[in-house]
Amino acid sequence: MEATADGAVFVTGGSGFIGRFVTQALARRGRRLILLCRSSSRSRLEARLAAWPPELARPTIVAGDVTRPDLGLDENARARLRDEAHQVLHLAAAYRLSMGEEEARAVNVDGTRRVLELAAGLHHLRAFHLVSSIAVSGDAEGTFGEDELDRGQGFFHAYGKSKFESEKVVRQSGLPWRVFRPGVVVGHSQTGEADKLDGAYYLFRALSRLARLPLAARLPLISMREEDLFFPLVPVDYLAAAMTHLMAAPPHSAFHLVDPYPLSYREFYERSLRAFGLTGPILRRPVRRSVRLLMLPPLRQIASAAAERLGMPFAMLGHVLYRVRYDDARARSALAGSGVTCPPFPSYLPQLVEFFRRHESDLAEPA
Ligand SMILES: NC(=O)c1ccc[n+]([C@@H]2O[C@H](COP(=O)([O-])OP(=O)(O)OC[C@H]3O[C@@H](n4cnc5c(N)ncnc54)[C@H](OP(=O)(O)O)[C@@H]3O)[C@@H](O)[C@H]2O)c1
Repeated sequence: MEATADGAVFVTGGSGFIGRFVTQALARRGRRLILLCRSSSRSRLEARLAAWPPELARPTIVAGDVTRPDLGLDENARARLRDEAHQVLHLAAAYRLSMGEEEARAVNVDGTRRVLELAAGLHHLRAFHLVSSIAVSGDAEGTFGEDELDRGQGFFHAYGKSKFESEKVVRQSGLPWRVFRPGVVVGHSQTGEADKLDGAYYLFRALSRLARLPLAARLPLISMREEDLFFPLVPVDYLAAAMTHLMAAPPHSAFHLVDPYPLSYREFYERSLRAFGLTGPILRRPVRRSVRLLMLPPLRQIASAAAERLGMPFAMLGHVLYRVRYDDARARSALAGSGVTCPPFPSYLPQLVEFFRRHESDLAEPA
C-alpha cells in the first residue's frame, strides 16, 4: 500500500463508469480522495460509496460542476483542496457522440481549462492527470503513437474534437501532466459489469435483437473481409488498474490504454455473433469501400437514418473505416513487472455477453 501522507487526489467524474472503478482502485492503494460531484448525482454516488468494502476509507464529496466558474465550489471546498490535494485526476466529460460542438466545448474543453486553473492554485500540486481518449486520432491512419497528437486530422464527431482540444490545453498548461488515452471501454473482464450502452454494446444490442428472430440461429450472416481494421477495446478493470499504477510514472507522458491483443473488427464481430447464438454460415465481403461511400452526402442521410433505427450512432461508423493502430509500448513498458496485464478479448467475451443479457434493459445510453 502507498503512503497516505502523499496528500489527497482530487477526482472529477468519479460518479461515472470509469470513475467508479478507478476511485475504488485508488482507495485500495490507500489514496485519500476528494470527489467533485454534481448535486444531481450526489445521492447516486453516496449509495455507490456506501456499498464499498468496509476496510476502504470513504472519499470526501464536494459539490460542483466543471461548467461553472471556480467549478461551482464553495470557499470551504476550495480551501480544503488548496491545502490537501496533491494530485488531480480529471475524468469528467460529456460523452455522447451525437452532441453538438457547443456542448462538447463547454464541458470538455472549457471545463478542462477550469480544472487546470484550480490545479494551478493548489499549494502542493504534484500531478495533473487527464483522461483523454483514443478518439483524439480522428481520421488519422497508420500507427498512432503515444507522443503524437496533432497530425492535422479531421474528426467524426464533436466529442473526438473536444477531447483532442482538451488534451492540447493540458499539454500546454505548464503543469506536470500525464495523459491516459483509453480505447473503447467495455465491462469488467471477470464479472462483465458495465453500466452504459455505448461502443461495443450497440452491436450487442443489435445482435441480441437479431437473435430473438425466428430461425435466427440458422440465418446466413454477412461479415467483413478486411482483417486489418482493428478494434481498440479495453476492459474497465485493466484500465483502472493501469491508470492507478501509471499515475506514478514520469510526468509529461501520454499512455494508450488498449487491449494489446490485436483484435480486428472482424474477429470482434464474428466472435460476438457466435456468443449471441447466431451460428449460421458467415459470408465475408469487403465493406470498407462501400461504407466509405455511405459517409458521402447523398447517401449519408439515408444511412444515418438506418443506423438510428438499429440504435447505433452513425458517427461511430467512421472509426470502423480507418486503418489505425494505437501503439501502447510506453504503457506496457511502464506496467512491466507490476502484475497489471490485460487479458485477451476471447477470454472475457463470455462474461461481457452474460452480463449484457442479464442487464440489457437496465443499461442506459450516455446522457
Ligand atoms: N467510456 C469509454 O469508452 C471511454 C473511452 C475513452 C475515454 N473515455 C473518457 O473517460 C472519461 C470518463 O468516461 P466514462 O465512460 O466514465 O463516462 P461517464 O460514465 O459518462 O461519466 C462521466 C462523468 O463526468 C461527469 N460529468 C459530466 N459533466 C459534468 C459536469 N458538467 N461537471 C462535473 N462532472 C461532470 C459525470 O457526472 P454525473 O454522474 O453527474 O453525470 C460522470 O461522473 C471521459 O473523460 C471520457 O471522455 C471514455
